[in-house]
Order: sequence, then structure tokens, then C-alpha cells
Amino acid sequence: MNSEKIEIFDTTLRDGEQVPGCKLNTNQKLTIAEKLDELGVDIIEAGFPISSPGDFHSVSEISKLVKNARVCGLTRANEKDIEVAAEALKFAKRPRIHTGIGTSDSHIKYKFNSTREKIIERAIQAVKYAKTFVEDVEFYAEDAGRTDNDFLAQVCEEAIKAGATVLNIPDTTGYCLPEEYGQKIKYLKENVKGIDKAILSCHCHNDLGMATANSIAGVMNGARQIECTINGLGERAGNTALEEVVMVLKQHAHLKLHTHINSKMLNCMSVLVSDLMGMPVQPNKAIVGTNAFAHSSGIHQDGVIKNRETYEIIDPADVGVNNSSIVLTARSGRSALAYRFKHIGFDVTKNELDFLYEEFLKIADIKKEVNNDDLGLMIEVFNRKIG
Ligand code: KIV
Ligand code: ZN
Repeated sequence: MNSEKIEIFDTTLRDGEQVPGCKLNTNQKLTIAEKLDELGVDIIEAGFPISSPGDFHSVSEISKLVKNARVCGLTRANEKDIEVAAEALKFAKRPRIHTGIGTSDSHIKYKFNSTREKIIERAIQAVKYAKTFVEDVEFYAEDAGRTDNDFLAQVCEEAIKAGATVLNIPDTTGYCLPEEYGQKIKYLKENVKGIDKAILSCHCHNDLGMATANSIAGVMNGARQIECTINGLGERAGNTALEEVVMVLKQHAHLKLHTHINSKMLNCMSVLVSDLMGMPVQPNKAIVGTNAFAHSSGIHQDGVIKNRETYEIIDPADVGVNNSSIVLTARSGRSALAYRFKHIGFDVTKNELDFLYEEFLKIADIKKEVNNDDLGLMIEVFNRKIG
């Protein structure tokens, strides 16, 4: 099989943890890092070491703990940040420094009051300096999504010459259309001298709900790393959701791209992060929402009971969910009701079902969801009536 590997760079503990209310202590971060390693991510971005003593400590402890994944620390393009990150990463088996600078005209003018030439110079200096500490240096061109492609190609070329092993092309503001982001990656693949010496990485934000689509467009056009978070947590509307890109690549094997993620752990990973961060997952969230494998309309339920594949493109077991669920609401039909009765031990005849269904609808019109207790009570009342 000539499928190519996509590296999964998890930034739950850095971009994800930046979210207001998602702050974690070191022990909680260690719990998540250990599980991410077991999940099979290739890189764990453990934090931004210069940002606080607590974050420095967490990156350092994670570096000691993680067995397989590379451990990465974020920096800005200056010597102090890089020195502190290198110190925090010194126990890591496979350390990576992630350094970079804004490259869009907006960032150059308003954030740095600088010029394109000076930004390139700072990028080169930062990569070269990071290389004096570690072999593996990832360079990010912040706001690459809104950066002119010619200039971006120039920056990337210089970063590679300075020794960058990975080039991160962030759509920092979540602005790009999938086609546009894919073309950006293709442009870099075709126009950056030495591009084969580095891996292109997608780091997409979800401001317009396109982070997953953009990341997939990126890898379809030559990127080989995706930066993502569990449950899509991250600044503002979040980052690309790890569980989504992993399952897109798994379900679309014809793309001939795969990851080393153990997808059966996705559901428990989502619950763990949500619990520790105190950040609930929306019920209709793709892959890990509580409704992702729940069916409530009669037409769908009838199909799923006959054959799960009529309305499910993913086997719930593949993401660690035990079963598809048949939820009883006023939109449910007879087959769903019979299925649920059977599930709790009552095999009802067609005539019994006709009667019970009328009763069921009365309850369902009052309640949002009819549960097993309600069903048990219905059977009791029914038996009393006929007995
Ligand atoms: O969104 C972004 O541009 C970032 C960089 C710091 C990599 O998170
Ligand atoms: Zn980001």
C-alpha cells in the first residue's frame, strides 16, 4: 500500500489551553500528555515556556514523562524565548523548538511596525539560534493564511536554509477557503527551493468553521503534518479537531494518507480533556459529540435498525463508542419502539405494539425523550389493563 503518513501535532496543551477557562495545572497536563502519547500523536506541543513559570514547569515535566512523541515548546522569534524553551525541553527524548513570526502585511505593519526584509532577517536569526540547541526546529509564519504567496515562499526558503525541519503555515485567523489554503500549500511545494528538506504543516483556526476542511485541503496538496487539538479547542472558535482529521483520513482511504492514531481512544480522549478543562463538548460535535451516533427520527431509526450503514458512515466502535443509540422522541416510529422494548426484555406482538405506540406518542409529546423507566411503566399499565 503506497499510503503516506500524516504526522499529528497535538497542540491541546498550548493553543487549546490558551482558551479562557481551560487552564490546567501541571498534574492535569501530565495526565493528558501521557494519554496523547498512548493515543499515538507524533508531536505534543506542551506549552509556551517563557509565558509563565507554571508553563515552564509543565513543559519540563512533560519532557521527562513522554516516551514516544516529540515534545515541542513554542517561542517568539527572539533569543530569550528560545533559550527558555530549550531549557524547558532539555529532558525530552526528542525535543522540538517551534519558533516564528507574523508574515502578513497586517502583522508586519501593526504588530511589528517593520518591513518584509527585517521580518525575514528575524526569521533566519530565530531558526539559526534555535538550531544551536536542538536539531528539530519548526518555523511558523504567523497569519500565513493572509500572507502574499510570493513573500511566504521567500520566508520559507530562508527558514529552510537556516535549518528549519518543519514549516508551519498557519491560517491564524481562520480566513482561508479550503481551495485557497490548498493552493497555498501547492504553491509552496512548487516554488520554494529546498522544500523537500522540510515538512509543510497545516495549522488552521475555525473562525469560519473551515479548519478541518482547510487542513484536509492542505494535506491533499502536499502538507504532511496537521496541527490540531482534542475537541477542536483553541483560540476563539478553536483549532482543527484532531478526531475529525484522523477520521476523515481513515474514512477516505482513497486519499492514500494515514495517521498512527489509535482511533478507538478518541472518545475517551475527548471525555478526559473535556472533564479536566471543564469545557463541555457540544452534543452535535462530529465524531465525539453525544449525538454523533444517536438516531431519533423514525425514518433514520428504521434504516439503522435494519442496517447501521444506512445512516452511519463510521462504526462507533472505531472511535471507542459502544453502540449507536436509538433515542425515543415524538418523531420515532414503531420499529424504534419495538427495538427499545426488546432491548429491555419485552418482545411485543404487532397488536401490542399498535396499542403501546399510541400511548408512547402521548408521553413523547410531553417529554423530550422517552427513557427505559417510561417504557417499563408503559408495560406495567398495559399488563394491568389487559390482566
Ligand atoms: O495560530 C497561530 O498562528 C499560532 C502560531 C503561534 C503557531 O498558534
Ligand atoms: Zn494557533
